[in-house]
Amino acid sequence: MQHYVLGHSNRELRRLMLQADNLRPITTRLLREIGLARGMRVVDLGCGAGDVAMLAAEMVGPTGAVVGIGRSAVAIATARERARAAGRANIEFVEGNASEMTGAGNCDLVVGRYVLVQKSDPVALIRAAATHLRPSGAVAFHEVFLLGTWWFCRFPMKTMRYVV
Ligand SMILES: C[S@@+](CC[C@H](N)C(=O)[O-])C[C@H]1O[C@@H](n2cnc3c(N)ncnc32)[C@H](O)[C@@H]1O
Repeated sequence: MQHYVLGHSNRELRRLMLQADNLRPITTRLLREIGLARGMRVVDLGCGAGDVAMLAAEMVGPTGAVVGIGRSAVAIATARERARAAGRANIEFVEGNASEMTGAGNCDLVVGRYVLVQKSDPVALIRAAATHLRPSGAVAFHEVFLLGTWWFCRFPMKTMRYVV
């Protein structure tokens, strides 16, 4: 079954990176507002070419750790190469279906960007997200808001904090 309708051609990976440059200020603010701080442990679900994971890795610094999970082997290889080129030693990329992966319950934050919107069963991904978290850890999804045929982008974006 296709898990990402746009696929992972070089062209699409480049598009994701360009999109990530544009979204960076919004995602940075989301991560700050949710409480991301140096030394924290983070999981990025549906990491694609690794942009959110790399942003989080920058924010948690060398004493923190980030794991990016993605279903595409090509995208994961690209993410690994980018992290290596950027000298990020505090980041790891794992290939797999994030909806079916169980975490160790030791992370401070699970993040995902533009991944829930594609899921026929978003609840399964959120349930899986919760397994990565320590008690009082947080989940932050950066998604589009779909209402009927209209797409809304409201700024300033509100951050909703869910604690599990
Ligand atoms: C729109 S891209 C966004 C990538 C990245 N989060 C970003 O913002 O640049 C969505 C990614 O989620 C991945 N994905 C979708 N369902 C997934 C799942 N169940 N487990 C892991 N990755 C998944 C797709 O393979 C794709 O790379």
